[in-house]
Amino acid sequence: MKGILIKKAVEEDAEAIINYLNIVGGESDNLLFGKNEFYMTIEEEQKFIKDFNGSLNSIMLLAKDNGNIVAVGSLSAFGRKRISHRGEIAISVKKEYWNKGIGSAMMKELIQFGREKAKLSVIQLTVKADNENAIQLYKKFGFKQIGYYEKFFHIDGKFYDAYFMNLYLD
Ligand SMILES: CC(C)(COP(=O)(O)OP(=O)(O)OC[C@H]1O[C@@H](n2cnc3c(N)ncnc32)[C@H](O)[C@@H]1OP(=O)(O)O)[C@@H](O)C(=O)NCCC(=O)NCCS
Repeated sequence: MKGILIKKAVEEDAEAIINYLNIVGGESDNLLFGKNEFYMTIEEEQKFIKDFNGSLNSIMLLAKDNGNIVAVGSLSAFGRKRISHRGEIAISVKKEYWNKGIGSAMMKELIQFGREKAKLSVIQLTVKADNENAIQLYKKFGFKQIGYYEKFFHIDGKFYDAYFMNLYLD
């Protein structure tokens, strides 16, 4: 974590975020997109960030090393009133930066935001059933498996299952 700064994403980060996601997509099969499969345009990503920053209960964080993005994490609260007590976490770290505590630092900030600022009751996430590192990380922060979704992913002609995991904050 030495020298790594975690900050809120701003609209000027849009192009670098797209480039980052197109790289990390190819570094594992654990995300919803593969290498160069993150198709958002810069304008769409800018709008996405603007919406995050205009929201009181959602946040997008970037971890940067020397100005370069090495991790992205978000907590998105649901908009509709009856489910606005819930939010969803998504997180990725660039492979050469794995196992340095960046994922943990990101999770800590996202959960703290969810608890203190967004005042959420539940944080949910979905994780590929064979993604041991991520499952361990989430368990470390108190997430519990609440569901198992067979054939959640379809990657290169093969199906993969996923767990739904929840953290209850109150
Ligand atoms: C999962 C991911 C976010 C973890 O980020 P990271 O920065 O490497 O995480 P950390 O260094 O903070 O490690 C966090 C925890 O992960 C677990 N972990 C990490 N590597 C592990 C390994 N090889 N075996 C078992 N557990 C491991 C441990 O619980 C560890 O906590 P500890 O160091 O206190 O024991 C990162 O590997 C990643 O981005 N993977 C690809 C994308 C992805 O899978 N995203 C999640 C989609 S649901």
